[in-house]
Amino acid sequence: MSTTAEETNDKSTREVVAEAGRRRTFAVISHPDAGKSTLTEALALHAAAITSAGAVHGKGERRGVTSDWMEMEQARGISITSAALRIDYADRVLNLLDTPGHADFSEDTYRVLSAVDCAVMLLDSAKGLEAQTLKLFDVCRARRMPVITFVNKWDRPGREPLELLDEIEQRIGLRPTPLNWPVGIAGDFRGLLDRASGTYTRFTRTPGGATRAIEETLTPEEAAEAEGEAWTQAVEELELLGEIGADFDVASFMAGESSPVLFGAALPNFGVSQLLRALVDLAPPPSDPVDAAGAGRPIGAPFSGQVFKMQANMDKAHRDRMAFVRVATGRFERGMVLTHAATGRPFATKYTQAVFGSERTTIETAYPGDVIALVNAAALKVGDTLYAGRKVEFPPIPSFAPEHFAVARAVDAGRYKQFQRGIAQLDAEGVVQVLTSDVRGEQAPVLAAVGPLQFDVVSHRMAEEFRAPIELAHLDYTLARHTDAASAPVANSLSGAEVLTRRSDGELLVLVHNKWRLRVIQRDHPELVLEPLLAGGVEQEE
Ligand code: G4P
Repeated sequence: MSTTAEETNDKSTREVVAEAGRRRTFAVISHPDAGKSTLTEALALHAAAITSAGAVHGKGERRGVTSDWMEMEQARGISITSAALRIDYADRVLNLLDTPGHADFSEDTYRVLSAVDCAVMLLDSAKGLEAQTLKLFDVCRARRMPVITFVNKWDRPGREPLELLDEIEQRIGLRPTPLNWPVGIAGDFRGLLDRASGTYTRFTRTPGGATRAIEETLTPEEAAEAEGEAWTQAVEELELLGEIGADFDVASFMAGESSPVLFGAALPNFGVSQLLRALVDLAPPPSDPVDAAGAGRPIGAPFSGQVFKMQANMDKAHRDRMAFVRVATGRFERGMVLTHAATGRPFATKYTQAVFGSERTTIETAYPGDVIALVNAAALKVGDTLYAGRKVEFPPIPSFAPEHFAVARAVDAGRYKQFQRGIAQLDAEGVVQVLTSDVRGEQAPVLAAVGPLQFDVVSHRMAEEFRAPIELAHLDYTLARHTDAASAPVANSLSGAEVLTRRSDGELLVLVHNKWRLRVIQRDHPELVLEPLLAGGVEQEE
C-alpha cells in the first residue's frame, strides 16, 4: 500500500524534474529603443506563439489586441510590466519575463531579474552599451547570472563588430564569445556566418517586418561565391577571434564571466532563430533553490515559489492585488491551498492566471521556472514564499540602492487614516521604500525610489485608489548607505546627511547629498559604518 504511494511520489517527482529541465526562464536587458519589444515579438513569432508580430506589446502601426489594455494602463499612469510570455520551442518552454521598458526604471525591473536564470543583453549596433543596460547588467553580475548578448539593428548603419566586442570587454569585463558573425557591414548586412558549422545564412529583407524573414542557408563555398569580399573579410575577422581565444566556453558563461554573442536584426526578424537556438542549447534550466537558512530544496520537492512582483489589478472595478510568483520547486496545481511562510496562514489559489501578452488565461498547472499570477493577493508582499508540504522560506529579494528621495504629506489632513493605509500598502507592494525618523514623524515619511517614475505611480495610486492625494517635496539627497545604531547619532549630526529607518525591515539608512559629500564624511569619520546597500554593488559609479 505504502509502496504504491511512494511509487506515485517517485513518478510525480520525476515528472517535475523533467518539466523543470525543459524550462528556460530569462529576461531581456536593454536601453529603451534598442528593440526589446520588437525582439520579444520576433522571438514569439519564430516560435509561432503568436500569429503576427505586434500582438504582444502593440507598438506603432503594429498595434494589436493589447492596445485597449495599454491605454487603460497609461490612463492610470502605470506601465504594464506584467507580461510573462511563454514560448514553446524545440521541446522547451521558454519563459520570457518582461522588464519595464521606459526610460526611467524602478525596482520592479531589478526584481524581475531575481526571478530569471539567464539574461539576454540586447544592444543597438550603432550605440553599443548604454546607461540602463549597464545598470541592469550590474544586477546580473551581482547574481553571477549567465548573459547572452544580441547585437540588434544590423540592417542599419552601425559600428564595427570588433569594436563592439571590445567595448563589452573593456567596459564591463564580460568576455565576448561570438556564436555567429555578420557578413557585410552594418547597413549593408548580407547574412550571418555560423561559427560552429561554418555555414552561411543569407539575409533577405521582408517588407514591413511583420512576417518572418526568409532564411537561406549556403555552404562556405557558395557563400564565398555569392558575397565575395564581404565574405572574405568576415572569415578573416573570425580567424582573428579564434587566435585571441574568443570561443564559447560553458564554465565561464555559466559563471557570468563570458557571454556568447549573436548578431541580427529583430525588426526584419533576422538572426532571431539563432537566438532561440542559443537559449534552448545554452541557457540553464532552473536549479535547486536555496532557502533563507542556506539549505537547498530539491526541485522535485513539493510546491514552493516566491513572489517577485506585486501589481494593482488592471481592472479598476476590482480593488485587488495580483502577485507574480516564480515556481521554485514542485508542481503547482490550481486550487491548491498553500501556506504563506511569513504568516503561516493558508493561501487558496482558486484564481490563477498565466499572463501571455494581454491575454490572461487561467492556468491549471505550472512547474519550476514558470510564472503564475495569483489574484486576491493583498496579503502577500514582494519576496514572500508560498509552499506546500515541508516549510520553506526563501531569502528576501534584495532592495536596491535608492537614488531619489521625497517627503510625502497628505494634502487633506482629514484623510490621514487613508494616507497611512495607502503608504503602508505601497510599501508592502514594494512600489517605493518608506523611511521614517522621529524628527520627521509619521505624518511625513520619506519615500525612496530607484527611479523617479516610482513617485508618479505613488501619487497616482494615493489619489485614485486610496483617495488620499499627497504632496511630494523632493529632498536633495542622491545616495543612501547602511549604518548601525552606534554610528547613527554622529552621522545624523553631520551636514548633508540624515539617518532614517526603513520601515519594511528596520534597517538604518544614512542619506547623503552626493558622493563628494560621502567621501568627505568617510575621510573625516573613518569610524562610521557606511556600507553600500547591495553587496556586490549595484550602485553606479556613473
Ligand atoms: P524598446 O522596446 O527597446 O524600447 O524598442 P522597440 O522594440 O520599440 O524598438 C525601437 C525602435 O527601433 C522602433 O522604431 C523599432 O522599429 C526599431 N527597431 C527595432 N529593432 C530593429 C532592427 O532590427 N532594425 C531596425 N532598422 N530597426 C529596429 P520606432 O520607429 O521607434 O517605432 P515603430 O513605430 O517602428 O514601432
